[in-house]
Amino acid sequence: MMLTPEIASGFKNKFFMTILCRQLGKVTRHVIFLPPFLRNCQAARPLLLFPLTICIAMLAHMKASPKPAPRKPKPAAELAGSIAARLNRSVVLVGLMGSGKSAVGRRTAKQLGIGFKDSDQLIVKAAGISIAEIFELAGEVKFREMERKTLGNLALASPQIIATGGGAFCHDATADLLLHHTLTIWLKASPATLLSRIGNTKTRPLLHNGDPLATLTRLDEQRAPFYQKAHIHLVTDGLSTYKAMMALLHALDSHLPRQ
Ligand code: S3P
Repeated sequence: MMLTPEIASGFKNKFFMTILCRQLGKVTRHVIFLPPFLRNCQAARPLLLFPLTICIAMLAHMKASPKPAPRKPKPAAELAGSIAARLNRSVVLVGLMGSGKSAVGRRTAKQLGIGFKDSDQLIVKAAGISIAEIFELAGEVKFREMERKTLGNLALASPQIIATGGGAFCHDATADLLLHHTLTIWLKASPATLLSRIGNTKTRPLLHNGDPLATLTRLDEQRAPFYQKAHIHLVTDGLSTYKAMMALLHALDSHLPRQ
């Protein structure tokens, strides 16, 4: 058991209470057992007054001893400053569509004062067409190849936050590259949470099949063994973007070695 300030203070108070009870017992004994002729005797008064004085002094001491202040959580800025100073590689967010990779990633990067990149956005910019169009015109295999190249370039650049497309980490070549050169974080959430966050499924070609919840459930089962390989796992169900960012900052703070 660790001796925390709260436990130590509890022991201290118990110790004083025990002494107090003992002294009160003595007073009672004096009052009861003192022969009647002594009870009225001037000389016997100090016998009664001494323990009483001790009791009052102890009560005053217990009241005066300050309660331990509750432990304050580290504010985001303090946490971010310490992490940014220790970060020597990029942080890559992996996980299913809707897990918050882009929203949480962008906010965390801003807090850390480092860059943010979204691999899907870079692919769209380079191709000049949407992800849905790339899937339609060139096929998923071509898209995965573009994804690997894009992430390969990003992984070797200076430390930044990188949001990946949901399938990126499920391709061995891409996963190996990220595991070796970056710090990978799996943002985990239930299929129902993912769907509620995605809202409009039009931009996600893999969800164009009538039952997005069933598809997300299947993808979750198929992809979990790949995501498991990430260095850090973070459950984001029920967390706002801010709370997920704070959870991410705390996870990074614990994971990164202290200098
Ligand atoms: C995909 C996820 C999408 C996008 C593409 C394929 C996937 O990215 O890369 O539609 O295979 O899960 P988001 O995870 O950012 O939605």
